[in-house]
Amino acid sequence: MARCCIHPSILSADFANLQSELHRIRTADAVHVDVMDNHFVPNLSIGLPVVRRLQEVSPIPLDAHLMIADADRWAPAYADSGVASVTFHAEASVAPVKLARDLRERGAKAGLALRPGSAVEPFLDMLEELDMILIMTVEPGFGGQEFLDLTLPKIRRARAAIDASGLDVKLQVDGGITEETIWRAADAGADVFVAGSAVYGAADPADAISRLRTATGQ
Ligand code: DX5
Ligand code: ZN
Repeated sequence: MARCCIHPSILSADFANLQSELHRIRTADAVHVDVMDNHFVPNLSIGLPVVRRLQEVSPIPLDAHLMIADADRWAPAYADSGVASVTFHAEASVAPVKLARDLRERGAKAGLALRPGSAVEPFLDMLEELDMILIMTVEPGFGGQEFLDLTLPKIRRARAAIDASGLDVKLQVDGGITEETIWRAADAGADVFVAGSAVYGAADPADAISRLRTATGQ
C-alpha cells in the first residue's frame, strides 16, 4: 500500500517570505503549520491572523498543529479559518471528544497530538472521533531536534489499533524526520511525515520532498 504523505513544516521556512516559501513546497501533500503560544511550549511562532492568510494563498492544503494551552477554547477558530485539518494536543485539552466533534462540525479534519512521554492507550476509545493521530517524535517547541527512537513502540501500538479498528485514521510523525530516520517511523506504521529542517534546510526543497518519499520505502 502506498502510504507516504510528506508535510513540510513552515517553522523552518523564511518567515519574511511565507507565500513564496509555500510555492517552493507545492509538490508536497500539505503544509504543516506550527502554532506555538509560549505557554504549552517554550517558544512563540505564528497565530490565527497569519494562518488565515496562509490559507488564502497556499497552493496545497494546510495541516495546523496547535502547540497551545487551552485548546478547547482556541482550536475551533482555526477550523473556521478553512484549514484542512486541526491537530490539538491531548495534554492541552480538557474535553478532547467534544473538541474533535466541534472541529469536524466546522469542516476541518480532527487530529490529536501526543508528546513523546504521553501514552496513546487512553485515547484509543475515541479513535472514531479522529481523522489523525500525531505522535511527536521530539519534544514539541523547536525544529532541528534529534528523532527520539523511544517513540517507535508507541507508533507501532497506534498502527495496530488503527488497523484493528478498520477506521480511516492517519498516523502522523513530527520531529527529527530526515532521509536517515524516516524509514524507521514508516516501518513502525506512520503514514504522514512532517519535516521542517530536512525540507527547508535543503538547497532544493522539491528534491528533498521527493527524496523523503523514496526513503520511506512505502
Ligand atoms: C516541533 C514542530 C515540528 C518542527 C519539525 O515542535 O512541531 O513541526 O517544525 O522540525 P524538524 O523537522 O526540523 O524536526
Ligand atoms: Zn509540528
